[in-house]
Amino acid sequence: MKRLEGKSALITGSARGIGRAFAEAYVREGATVAIADINIERARQTAAEIGSAAFAVEIDVTRQDSIDAAIAAVVRQAGGLDILVNNAALFDLAPIVEITRGSYERLFSINVAGTLFTLQAAAKQMIGQGRGGKIINMASQAGRRGEALVAVYCATKAAVISLTQSAGLDLIKHRINVNAIAPGVVEGEHWDGVDALFAKYENRPLGEKKRLVGEAVPYGRMGTAEDLTGMAIFLASSESDYVVAQTYNVDGGQWMS
Ligand SMILES: NC(=O)c1ccc[n+]([C@@H]2O[C@H](COP(=O)([O-])OP(=O)(O)OC[C@H]3O[C@@H](n4cnc5c(N)ncnc54)[C@H](O)[C@@H]3O)[C@@H](O)[C@H]2O)c1
Repeated sequence: MKRLEGKSALITGSARGIGRAFAEAYVREGATVAIADINIERARQTAAEIGSAAFAVEIDVTRQDSIDAAIAAVVRQAGGLDILVNNAALFDLAPIVEITRGSYERLFSINVAGTLFTLQAAAKQMIGQGRGGKIINMASQAGRRGEALVAVYCATKAAVISLTQSAGLDLIKHRINVNAIAPGVVEGEHWDGVDALFAKYENRPLGEKKRLVGEAVPYGRMGTAEDLTGMAIFLASSESDYVVAQTYNVDGGQWMS
């Protein structure tokens, strides 16, 4: 029995990386999935590669009109909205004395406001449908504690954990479960960019930081997007109906809480 049979899902930032892996996993479990991304060309390519149960939708989570249009498009094409994954995010790195307002505003507008207002629009749609729903926010181990060079990104992910708690408590009366996943370090294009930033600020050769963070994981390696799909399916399925406002670490043993 497929665990998401007949469900309609929207995953932001799913043209690549973790969001894409979630889209593939949800389709395998019987869902129809909107590959929603600001990079619409790549979203179309990803949807075509996944198959007929996936379709591309343009979304810029920093713009309310774009969020509303994307949700309307999903409802039109898939007949409703049952699952939202707030996955789109941006990373940046700088010592405290070099953080710019531009970087702060960009990260908070995508990672925090984007998460909140996409969640809000999805919740309105789900409340109107009257059949509950599942909302999964992508947090991070970076939201569990600060890091010297990562102040802004860490603060955005701490905010995602807090929003998950408040929204989870507010929306459960509508049978909408809001929970989050906190990954550790995950292989992919995203971490290639992170590695390049650490190389610059810590004066390292390219690839060294990535190797070191992988070796430091108790499991013994960096995570892959596929390492996260089990939790993403669980939180989208009826198996998690009694799970409310939680953030789950899926990080190979990096953080305990
Ligand atoms: N990769 C990791 O090590 C790691 C660790 C912890 C948490 N996370 C979190 O997991 C999630 C996915 O990470 P990833 O590694 O797959 O990232 P990624 O950078 O590979 O993918 C992010 C996607 O978001 C899209 N995007 C960017 N701005 C957007 C906007 N304004 N509107 C819509 N889409 C936008 C990008 O086009 C891209 O396709 C993020 O929330 C990230 O913070 C990642």
